[in-house]
Amino acid sequence: MGYDIIRSERELRKDVSDMENYTEILRENSTLETERLILRPFSMDDAQDVFLIARDSIVTKYLTWHPHTDISQTEKVVKEIYMSRPGFYAIELKSEGKCIGCIDIRVCEEHDKASFGYMLNRNYWNKGYMTEALQAIIDLAFSKLRLNRIESTHLVGNEGSGRVMQKCGMKYEGKGLQEVKIKGIYHDVVHYAILRQNWYEWNSNQRQTKTARIRGDISGS
Ligand SMILES: CC(C)(COP(=O)(O)OP(=O)(O)OC[C@H]1O[C@@H](n2cnc3c(N)ncnc32)[C@H](O)[C@@H]1OP(=O)(O)O)[C@@H](O)C(=O)NCCC(=O)NCCS
Repeated sequence: MGYDIIRSERELRKDVSDMENYTEILRENSTLETERLILRPFSMDDAQDVFLIARDSIVTKYLTWHPHTDISQTEKVVKEIYMSRPGFYAIELKSEGKCIGCIDIRVCEEHDKASFGYMLNRNYWNKGYMTEALQAIIDLAFSKLRLNRIESTHLVGNEGSGRVMQKCGMKYEGKGLQEVKIKGIYHDVVHYAILRQNWYEWNSNQRQTKTARIRGDISGS
């Protein structure tokens, strides 16, 4: 019994220090670069660009919150949420130097795993930008944070989001019927995840496919 208490106190201290480590690593990696994007910390200067996204009822259709009607709502979110902790990234399009979206990683230290959330300005949908951003986040999660599992969900109907997860190697794990109630309506929820070992296998397969395509061994888009 006494041993259990000592052990659980030790574990508690370990959890706290794990979280401190994760926070530190996220701070050290507060800017990530991909081919077309810079993922960087938010500043209040991004509020106008974020408002363009947050006021769009098509963007928020499958999100838990209602579209913003006034920029002051967006300013509050940028200040109190997006700038509040490491792990929130503004997605800046290099070619235009503007913030076109948001992606964040949420670490669950107890289980060495993380989930994430994202949204993009509708003018930039279906150009592969979120896939590019999510790959950078998953890479950070496995190679720097050394997590074991990345998981996320989308509501049935929001299949574009599921496609982004598939294009990052995540696997379908099942569907929760009427799992959540959002804006007064029950929704089925689709679950996706990837383990660290599968991420490295998937990356290596992607590289081999790319090389084969360049050499002309296989065709495809
Ligand atoms: C989900 C979202 C982030 C995707 O961003 P994006 O940059 O357009 O994503 P990508 O271009 O990397 O990939 C989108 C993929 O979904 C596919 N897609 C789009 N709409 C689709 C639909 N209705 N059904 C199936 N696939 C769809 C696209 O064709 C593309 O796949 P492909 O490259 O194989 O053709 C963006 O649509 C968004 O911000 N939505 C609103 C916010 C939101 O729903 N966030 C997620 C909450 S779970």
